[in-house]
Amino acid sequence: MAILIGDIAPDFEADTTEGHIRFHDYIEGSWAVLFSHPKNFTPVCTTELGYTAKLKPEFDKRGVKVLGLSVDKLENHAGWAADIAETQGTALNFPLIADPTQEIARKYDMIHPNADNSLTVRSVFVIGPDKKVKLKIEYPASTGRNFDEIIRVIDSLQLTARHQVATPVNWKVGEDVIIVASVTDEAAREKYPEGWKTVRPYLRLVPQPRT
Ligand code: BEZ
Repeated sequence: MAILIGDIAPDFEADTTEGHIRFHDYIEGSWAVLFSHPKNFTPVCTTELGYTAKLKPEFDKRGVKVLGLSVDKLENHAGWAADIAETQGTALNFPLIADPTQEIARKYDMIHPNADNSLTVRSVFVIGPDKKVKLKIEYPASTGRNFDEIIRVIDSLQLTARHQVATPVNWKVGEDVIIVASVTDEAAREKYPEGWKTVRPYLRLVPQPRT
C-alpha cells in the first residue's frame, strides 16, 4: 500500500556510506529527508547530490538529517563519491543508502514499474520528529529536483508545527502567513494582539511568528 502523508515512515536497516543504520534510530528526535536517486554515475544525480551536500549547513540549521538512496551497491557509492567531490566542488557529507535488493525502494514505492522496473524515480520524503511523513514528492529520472524548494517546504512545515498557521502560495521565510480556520477570532486576538489582516473571514493574514 502506498505511503501517504501522515503515515509513519517505514523503518528499515541498511548499509550506508556512513555505516550500518536502523532508520528510526538514526533519525530519532530529528526531522529527516529521505530521497532516492535512480542510479550512480549518472549526470542529473551527480548534480543533485553535489548540491545537496552544499546545502548541508542549511539542513543542519533546521535539525534535519538527510539520506540519499539508490539501488546501487555500497562499493559503487564510494567510487562515485569521489566524482561528486571533484565535479560538483563539495564532497558527500550525508549517508547514501545502498539498496541493491530494492527492498527499501519498494517499501517506499520509489520504483514505478511503468517508468522503469529496476531504477527508482526521484522520490523525496520529509519526515517529522514523530516519524510521520510530512511531504512526499516524485520526479521522473530526467528532471533534477529543486532542493531549495525542499528547504522552503521544511521552513513551512516547521513553522506550522510550532504555530497554528499555514503558508500561502509561493511563501518564503519572512512573509505573512495564514491563521488557520480552527483558530477563532477571539483566540487570534490573544495570540496576535497587534492584529491581522482579514481579506475574507476565512483568509486572515498575520506577520510570520518569529519564535
Ligand atoms: C541521471 O541522473 O542523469 C539519470 C539517471 C537515470 C536515468 C536517467 C537519467
